[in-house]
Amino acid sequence: MKIALLGGTGNLGMGLSLRLAILGYEVIVGSRSEERAKRRAEEYKVILSEKGFSGKIRGLTNSEASKLCEIAIITVPWEQAFMLVENLKIELNKKITISPIVPMKKDGIFFRYVEIPEGSAGEKIARILKDSRVVSAYHNVPADRFADLDSKFDWDVPICGDDDEAKKVVIEMTNEVKGLRGLDCGDLRNSKMVESLTVLILNLMAKNKLKEIGVKFC
Ligand SMILES: NC(=O)c1ccc[n+]([C@@H]2O[C@H](COP(=O)([O-])OP(=O)(O)OC[C@H]3O[C@@H](n4cnc5c(N)ncnc54)[C@H](OP(=O)(O)O)[C@@H]3O)[C@@H](O)[C@H]2O)c1
Repeated sequence: MKIALLGGTGNLGMGLSLRLAILGYEVIVGSRSEERAKRRAEEYKVILSEKGFSGKIRGLTNSEASKLCEIAIITVPWEQAFMLVENLKIELNKKITISPIVPMKKDGIFFRYVEIPEGSAGEKIARILKDSRVVSAYHNVPADRFADLDSKFDWDVPICGDDDEAKKVVIEMTNEVKGLRGLDCGDLRNSKMVESLTVLILNLMAKNKLKEIGVKFC
């Protein structure tokens, strides 16, 4: 299965690229720049081989990556994500498209959730990509720890979506990643709760000097 990481050159895209490639998924790192995408793909392959893994990873523009993939994950900052998918509607038509997007802004030492008129980032993406199968997931996964292949973790990943079949595919894919447990979190109207949980996590980290914590429901 081909998975595109749109903006896969960045923090969360790196972790997802590495972890999905290890599982045997064909990873396509997307970028605005084909050159940067190819360079990051090569770097990710080096990281895998240094840890004794191999994987299929290549780099392409976001548009080419969207065309070729079966599943796309939108790993770009929230301010840019909506415009990005607006321009990729045709390429992402009917495809499972995952939103890990957390709309937030810094306010002193704290982060605040930015209210989205559609209800949440996930719902706004679904409104734009009305012919795609939008699933909301991975908001609470801390990128640096996730990308470190030596790090051990045990995190839950609440997953929301209006398309039950698409959501099931994403839950199963998530459960394949060592240390992650995908949990069905209902339809996309629940995405706001999951997105804003990341803001809570970041504020807990800031106030209590904690590093890169995830969530576990137990
Ligand atoms: N970081 C985390 O711990 C974390 C955890 C959970 C969820 N998330 C969510 O995941 C998403 C990505 O976060 P991140 O920290 O991985 O982001 P990031 O590293 O800051 O950026 C990811 C990539 O986005 C692309 N990008 C930057 N500006 C852009 C623009 N104007 N238009 C199009 N693409 C642009 C860049 O790729 P190119 O320059 O190569 O195009 C960049 O490498 C965010 O929506 C965030 O809310 C992040």
